[in-house]
Amino acid sequence: MTQHFIVIGNPIAHSKSPEIHQTFAAQVGIDISYRRQYCPDDVASFDAVVAAFFNGGGVGANVTVPFKQLAYALCKSQGRLSEHARVAGAVNTLLLTGDGSPKDKTLYGDNTDGQGLVNHITSLGWTLTNARIAIIGAGGAARGVILPLIQAGIGQLTLANRTLSKAQVLVDELSAASNTINEHAVETCATTELTGTFDLIINATSIGLSGDTLPIAEDLNCHYAYDMMYGRALPFLQHFAARGAQTSDGYGMLIGQAALSFERWTAHTIDVTQATSAIQASKKR
Ligand code: ATR
Repeated sequence: MTQHFIVIGNPIAHSKSPEIHQTFAAQVGIDISYRRQYCPDDVASFDAVVAAFFNGGGVGANVTVPFKQLAYALCKSQGRLSEHARVAGAVNTLLLTGDGSPKDKTLYGDNTDGQGLVNHITSLGWTLTNARIAIIGAGGAARGVILPLIQAGIGQLTLANRTLSKAQVLVDELSAASNTINEHAVETCATTELTGTFDLIINATSIGLSGDTLPIAEDLNCHYAYDMMYGRALPFLQHFAARGAQTSDGYGMLIGQAALSFERWTAHTIDVTQATSAIQASKKR
């Protein structure tokens, strides 16, 4: 029997999720339909789309820009949240949980973005244990990855942002939401004040493909540089590659978060390396 999935966003035509999830389904040998679901950008429309999908027998939904916070609010008021979703204040994965009876179905929101990042970094062979890490950016992208990184056993974490006060507010909010983060004592600074050598620097700003460049101090260095964006050449990665760092864009994070969603929905385990090769091979054809 075909299992039905959607990704809800606005805009949504560009989403790569259908091809990624079809590759997963082929790998584990199940029959799925996975479609892009456009939704007007308002609460009532979003809630109605989610309700219609699950009432119609849908198994799982991904949620992307700009609806991750609305999905969080919906699960908070009408369902349940995973710890990662609760702390991130954002949901990218929706499913129904319950005892299996048709009447006992509760909406459940998870957030697999941060664990997708951790899994990708680990698969690159970059060590997170005790690593000295800086994240640049204090928006939604940074918010979603801080708890999973700390849970992965990193050492010191510095959160840098153009607007220092936003970094401080984010750390305060996250510390209030999670003892794990509170106990880790995340440091903050202005991006221009970020100096020294880190094991890993992660670009979590939205600057990626805008053509703007981050103001990076001359004496800021790292062994590994990761940009959560993907697509064409990213100036942040070019900067640190020229200084001898290993670099990666966020394409592997996209596949990694998708794999975790798929695993939550279907209870199948995905070989992410094999799936990534299959997706790349299909693009070349
Ligand atoms: P989100 O919707 O993900 O929460 P956001 O709040 O716009 O997005 O955050 C994007 C992040 O990119 C912020 O950290 C932002 O810095 P500010 O808090 O100072 O605005 C950062 N960012 C965006 N454009 C930038 C630029 N040109 N230079 C430096 N940082 C930038």
